[in-house]
Formats: sequence, C-alpha cells, structure tokens
Amino acid sequence: MKIGSIKEDLAYEKRISITPESAKSLIGLGLKICIEKNYATHLGIEDKDYEVLGVEIKQKPEEVLKSSDLVIKINCPNNTEIKNLKENTNLVGFLNVTKNKKEVNDILSKKINIFSLELLPRITRAQSMDVLSSQSNLAGYRSVIDSIFEFEKAIPMMMTAAGTVPPAKILIIGAGVAGLQAIATAKRIGAIVSATDVRIASKEQVESLGGKFLMVEQSENLETAGGYAKEATEEFKKKQAELMREALKKNDIVICTALIPGKPAPRILNEGLVKLMKPGSVIYDLAAENGGNSAFSEPGKINIVNGIKVIGVKNLMNKLPITASNLYAKNVFSFIRNLYSKEKKSFNVNLEDEIIKSTLVKEVK
Ligand code: NAI
Repeated sequence: MKIGSIKEDLAYEKRISITPESAKSLIGLGLKICIEKNYATHLGIEDKDYEVLGVEIKQKPEEVLKSSDLVIKINCPNNTEIKNLKENTNLVGFLNVTKNKKEVNDILSKKINIFSLELLPRITRAQSMDVLSSQSNLAGYRSVIDSIFEFEKAIPMMMTAAGTVPPAKILIIGAGVAGLQAIATAKRIGAIVSATDVRIASKEQVESLGGKFLMVEQSENLETAGGYAKEATEEFKKKQAELMREALKKNDIVICTALIPGKPAPRILNEGLVKLMKPGSVIYDLAAENGGNSAFSEPGKINIVNGIKVIGVKNLMNKLPITASNLYAKNVFSFIRNLYSKEKKSFNVNLEDEIIKSTLVKEVK
C-alpha cells in the first residue's frame, strides 16, 4: 500500500503531514511513501532527506494523488486536488468537515474513505493521535509568547538598583488544553496568573499549575459527559460578566481560549468589559477564527481600542510550523498504525473500533 502527501497551499499553511521521522516509522510498518518535489523545503527539509529513507519523489502533485492508496493532508483538498484523487482510496486529514461540506461530499462521491482527525474521541487509546490536543497545546504556549511580545512592559518581578519592576498579571479565559499550557508558560515567565472556566474539573488543574481559579459562584457544572463545555445560561453569563468586570481592571494581559464544540465561540468580553482594561493592556483572542471570545477581535488583525491591543489570532501554527508538523506527523502515524493491517497488507476500516468509527466521515448535510 502506498501513502502519498502533497504540499499544502503555502499562502496559508506551512505545516507538513509527513516528516522524515514519521516517514521512517510508516516505512517500518511495511508501507511505501511518495511525496511531491520540494515537499518540505520551506521548512529546511530537502527531498534528499526523504529519499535516503526510500521515499519516492514525484515531480507533480497530481502524480502523487493519482498513485496513492491513502493520502495524508492537513487542510481539506481543493477542487483540482479532489479531481486527481483516486477512486476507492483513503484520505486522512484535519479537514474541518462542518466547514467544508461541499468538498467533503465531492470526495465521498469518489468512494473514498475520509478520516478527519478533529472527530477523534477523547479516549485514552486515542491520545497519541489527538491532533486537537497537540496543536492546542502549542497554541497555548505561543499565545503567551505573542501577547508578551505585544505588551510593552516586562513580565516578571525584578528587583533592580533602579527600583522594583512589578510582575505582570495574566488572565486566561478557558482552561482546556490551550489554556492550561498558557497558564504553565505564563507562570514560567514570572507572571501572576489567574484563569476561569465553566467546567468545575478545571479548577484543580489550574491550581495544580500555580494559577488562581476564578469561579463563577453557585454555578452548575457546565460540562458534557464527553468532557467538553456546554453553552452557558443567561444567568451564568451575567455572573461571569460580573467576575470579569473586577478581573479586567486588575489584569495586564487576557488570553482567550474558550470554545464550545460545533458552536460559535462564546462571547465573554463585550465592548464595555474590554474598555475596563488599562491602556497598554493586551487581549489575545485564540478563538477569533471561531467568532471570538472578545469584542473588537478580528482574525489576523490587531485592533487598538482606548490604547488596549485586541489581537485576533489567525493561522497560529504557521508561527511554529516545524514543531507543529512534528507533532501532527506523529499523531497521523499513530492513527495509520491503528488503521493498517500488517497481516492483510491493507487499510482495515473496522467499524467496531471506536477511533475508526468516529473519524470516518459520512455524507454531510
Ligand atoms: P475546547 O478547546 O473545546 O475549549 C477550551 C476551554 O474553554 C474548555 O476548557 C471549555 O470548558 C472552556 N469554555 C467553553 N465555554 C466557556 C465559557 N463560556 N467560559 C469559560 N470557559 C469556557 O476544549 P479542549 O481544550 O479541547 O478540552 C476539552 C476537554 O477534553 C477537557 O475536559 C480536556 O481535559 C479533555 N481532554 C481529554 C483528553 C483525553 O482524555 N484523551 C485529551 C484532551 C482533552
């Protein structure tokens, strides 16, 4: 069986799906690999780094697509790519199925099995394949680095002969995978960190990282059986706004990470709340591409409101594409190891396997 991968559109995606390290692991399973010429040169990885491992280099993307039994991508294929995919094959990616309905249905009409990794169940066995976690973890880290870069003061407390520099205060909204990594990173840099979430389980996790948990009092636990957040009630939103009112006056940087699966991001900071921050403060909205947790946030823009920088994040993984690719490629390898049957020498769509059943995409309406 042959696995293929082509370059993503470099205008908005710098990550790759197969690194030399993951190519070696895939070949170790007994699979063949082909990639497009100059597949990873933008990351400093040359074709010869793959060729020495036995990877075949094709001159054109369509040659890769037409000859592969399984194609690995990050983003959903475009119309030309879809045309070139071979019928009765397999596609693995981070395809954002609900946003790319037409493309997904076009691919399905070619009798291609689509496995989309954002649909992975959050179960222990799937942890090594969990692209949402690996990429969110990096997003949490990078959100702190980027926001302190935009903040025009120092972060840690410093006692100098010229006087004491007070530590900066950072508030994290949403303490899931990204939020927890943001707390850990901000603590390491010396900030005073607090965080809030709708899930009560996150209190202990925030505190174990040295953050202060800001709890919406007398709230019900807004957590689904799967561990995700539920949409907040009007009463909860009012109480949360009260809590934010006090917190925003005191904090220098706010990092927003709150999401609800399948829904637009919850709007937590309205215009009035944003304006309570001191001039020079920073709001870094990781949820911007999903509608934003904060007023004034737009993907890919920094809007300055009353001297407060509101940063709307877009394509954050392009700022650390090598680490993001290494983790993505490892996640994909683990997924394929589970999908491939060495005995049958084929990909085994075993619907008894929760991982395969959950990620296999059916027609999207
Ligand atoms: P996410 O990216 O969907 O959401 C980020 C955070 O925002 C969540 O903690 C959520 O509770 C919070 N949030 C949503 N609405 C909010 C609001 N109105 N106000 C404040 N906070 C709000 O979540 P993520 O990071 O994907 O994690 C979801 C769950 O999955 C967590 O419970 C996490 O521990 C769990 N998980 C389990 C794994 C496993 O067992 N294999 C792996 C990774 C995550």
